[in-house]
Parts: sequence; C-alpha cells; structure tokens
Amino acid sequence: MPLTVQLAAENAVDVSAELIAVPFASGANVKQEPLASVERGLGIGLSALVANEEFKGEKDQQLDVPLGGKGPIRRLLLLGTGPKGKMSNADLRSLAARAARAAQSDKARSLVFACPDGVAPERLRYIAEGLVLGEYRFNKYLTGDRRPKAELGTATLALGQGNRPGKIHKRAVLLGEQIGRAVCLTRDLVNEPPNELYPARLANEAERMAEEAGLKCLVFDRQEIERRGMKLLMAVGQGSAHEPRFIHITYSPKKARKKLVFVGKGLTFDSGGLSIKPAAGMGEMKSDMAGAANVLGLLRACAALRPDVEVHGIIASAENMPDGTAYRPGDVFGSLDGKTVEIINTDAEGRLVLADALTYARALDPDVLIDNATLTGACVVALGKTCSGFYATTDRLAQRFANAAKDAGETFWRMPLLDDLKDQLRSDVADLKHTGERYGGSITAALFLREFVGDAPWIHADIAGPVLADRASAFYPKGATGHGVLTFVELVDQLS
Ligand code: BES
Ligand code: MN
Ligand code: ZN
Repeated sequence: MPLTVQLAAENAVDVSAELIAVPFASGANVKQEPLASVERGLGIGLSALVANEEFKGEKDQQLDVPLGGKGPIRRLLLLGTGPKGKMSNADLRSLAARAARAAQSDKARSLVFACPDGVAPERLRYIAEGLVLGEYRFNKYLTGDRRPKAELGTATLALGQGNRPGKIHKRAVLLGEQIGRAVCLTRDLVNEPPNELYPARLANEAERMAEEAGLKCLVFDRQEIERRGMKLLMAVGQGSAHEPRFIHITYSPKKARKKLVFVGKGLTFDSGGLSIKPAAGMGEMKSDMAGAANVLGLLRACAALRPDVEVHGIIASAENMPDGTAYRPGDVFGSLDGKTVEIINTDAEGRLVLADALTYARALDPDVLIDNATLTGACVVALGKTCSGFYATTDRLAQRFANAAKDAGETFWRMPLLDDLKDQLRSDVADLKHTGERYGGSITAALFLREFVGDAPWIHADIAGPVLADRASAFYPKGATGHGVLTFVELVDQLS
C-alpha cells in the first residue's frame, strides 16, 4: 500500500501516531510553536533534554527520544534544520525524508510531522514529496523473514491548533505526493533486475504509465526501428536475445507556450558487448537505463503538474550483449541522421543509441532539447559519485539548468564542450569514430552527441555517478535514487 499523506488542523502531539517528528532550528526558542505544544503534550523539558544531548538543531543533526510507552507516541524525533527561516524547498524535502526514513527503520506504521511554524501553504508540497521519497523501499523480491515487518502507512502533517487546511494546502500535498511517486516510479525501474526489465518490458511500463496518466505514447518495435533507419540503435541491440524498443511519450497542454524534448538512454543492461566489461560491478549496469527511467518519471510528474509547455519524452532502449550476432569494433554503420560511424569500442554504446534518438528528437523542432544518460565512467572519475556533469550549447541555457538543479537540491556541474578534442572523433573509413582517447572521455562523448543535435538549443546531462547510491542521504535512498527527475521537473516548471 502506498503511503497516505494527510493534513491536520491540530498540534502534532494531539494526532495519534507512533512517531512524532519535529523540526528544531539552531538556537530555537522552545517556548514557540510547534515545540511548545510538544513540551506540554509529552510532559518533557526540551531545553534540558537538548542541552544534555548537545543537540543544537544544526542541519543534518537529529535527536531520537524514546518515550517508553507513556502515550500512543512511542518516539520523538527532533530534526535539526540549521538557522530558523533559512530552509530552502529542497531542505524541507530532505527534512521530511529523514522523518519518513526514521519511521521506516523504527517499524512505525504512522508518523506525524509538525510543520514548521508559519510555513507557506504551497511549500507543503516539498514536505509531502520528502515523506514519499523517504518512505521508499524496493522490496518486491524479498520473501519470508526478509519482508518488512511493518510499513509506514500514514503520515500526517500537523499544521498546529486551529490552522485549518484550505484548498492551497490540499493541492500542495497532493502535488507533492504525485511528484514523489513519479520519482519512485523511476527508482523502481532502475532497481528492477535486468532479466525482468528488458526493452520490451520498459516499453510496456511506459505504455502503462502513459495510459494511467492520460499521456500519448508511441512505441516502435524492432521492425519499425529498422524501417525508420535507426541503424545505430539496431547495431547496439543486435547481439541480444531481447529486441530494442523506441518510445515517444507526449504531454500536451491546451495551449503550449514552448516545446521541451527530453531524451533518455535506455540500456536495460550493458555488458559492454564484445568489448566486454570486467566482472566486478557488472551488475550495476542494470542501471544503464536510468536516463530513460528519468524521462518516464518526468512525464508522469508533468501529468500531475500540468505546465503550459509541451513536454516530449524520447527513449532509445536496447540491451548490449556479446554474441555471434553482436556488433563489432571495426564495423561501420549509417545512422538516422545519415552520417556514418566507425565502431571503436562496443562498450561506448550509449552515444550510439542517443545519436539516433537525438536525430528523431530534433525533428520535433524543440525550444530546448535535453538528453540524460549514464554515459561515461570518465564523468564519475571527474565529478565523483554524487555529482552529475552537464553540457550546454549556450550560457543562458546552462544558467537556467544550473538554477533548476540548485532549486531542486540536486548536484550538477557544468562541463566544457572543448572543440580541441574534436579531432579525436575523425575516422579514416567513416564520417565519425564514436570514441576518442581515455582522457577527456566525458567530453568526447558529448562532442559526439553534438554532431546529431543540429541547431537545437541543447543540454546533455551525464548522470553516470549519482543514479545509484551506496547509502541514503538527503532525499535519496540507498540504491536507485531517481537523481535528475526533480531537476527536470523544476526546469519544466521554470520554463513554463
Ligand atoms: N554505461 C557505461 C558508463 C557507466 C560507467 C555508467 C560506470 C555508470 C558507471 C557506458 O556505456 C560505458 O561503458 N562507457 C565507457 C565508454 C568508453 C568505452 C569510451 C566508459 O565510460 O568506460
Ligand atoms: Mn557501455
Ligand atoms: Zn552504457
């Protein structure tokens, strides 16, 4: 059962729940709400308590107080927020996610979250997002003892006594839940094992989501991909028992002011092909469709957000496998664009499927074209596991994207499209080689993609690092994080 988020016009202590989470600003005055009613209601001296525990309410600090069964509330969780009034929307989301994670690990079935005093009703959206994102677990394949003992079923946002929730509050919470669930859809797809999630299944999931959300969805099967001349997508998929798929989902409002086209790399598994990857960590390559999953999450979020811009989601999906029929280093293929490409390393498959997808996407004549892909290990070497790289064809667009990422609370860093490295893509036998030298590997991948975008204002995001996490942080869980979706949602929102 999914988590239900509800609103209450009461103080948090008056709501029946197993865990009560209360934001606590650094240097907070415990005589003020919502802390004052917590003190009164639970009959504990907060000042002495926090002094004893050296809890200062700093950001990311938290104090877990067992209440020993005196009332229905089993546990009090004080969440440090840093200085009062300085919390961004993303901070608010992370705070709520921490509360939901704590409730999950405490096996609580219900949680009440004391909203910070005077929080703007629209900002309840971010609290609702955080609760849904923090509650997330992927336990589909666990059985018996490994099944969770309890599930967080309800989270109540306590507005404080007499603060009746109005339309704006309710709408904000609903929107937050829907956006949170959209990100969880992305996470589910990325966590799904590759024997279960192959291109045709990804296309089915896309169709199902589109149907539910009232979006248009086109799927091209292998024959149609071939008929249309997507030769690079065909090449990458030809060594697999699973056929490739191409997906095009559209959100269109009554009156659109702009057209945004998002493209995602959808490698449901990347073994490297004949240029096979080392055994260690190969299983992580089930996440090589994270860009595609982000596109699906984004489109689902758009159906809830209803921005006044047209949003297209394009996915090129294949499985990269070694086989007697697999593509080889040395092969030359045409492309949907017409350019010919010499294959150097079959493990650089992402840029090939993206080249055809970008060619298809630019024909839609977008105001902004954005692709996202787990494209290069080099980008992870450059920026680490928690930061994505992005490239932009104009400074203005780069600034907009950077702002969207910042507001969404996700970490992206701009990388340069260095023309000096372009020579590395010169081939003797074809128009282009598809890889260059090891050094600058993320940049040459971006330069290769640029050959296929024409004049479209373009962003390329290399998300190889942050889509999987070794441990939970902020609003990300361990495993698939959904990193990217919220940045794209924010970008759509800001461009509409
Ligand atoms: N999917 C990988 C990139 C990747 C690596 C994602 C690590 C997440 C973690 C991509 O298809 C790939 O294999 N890229 C090669 C390119 C190289 C052969 C030019 C790489 O980065 O090693
Ligand atoms: Mn690869
Ligand atoms: Zn790959």
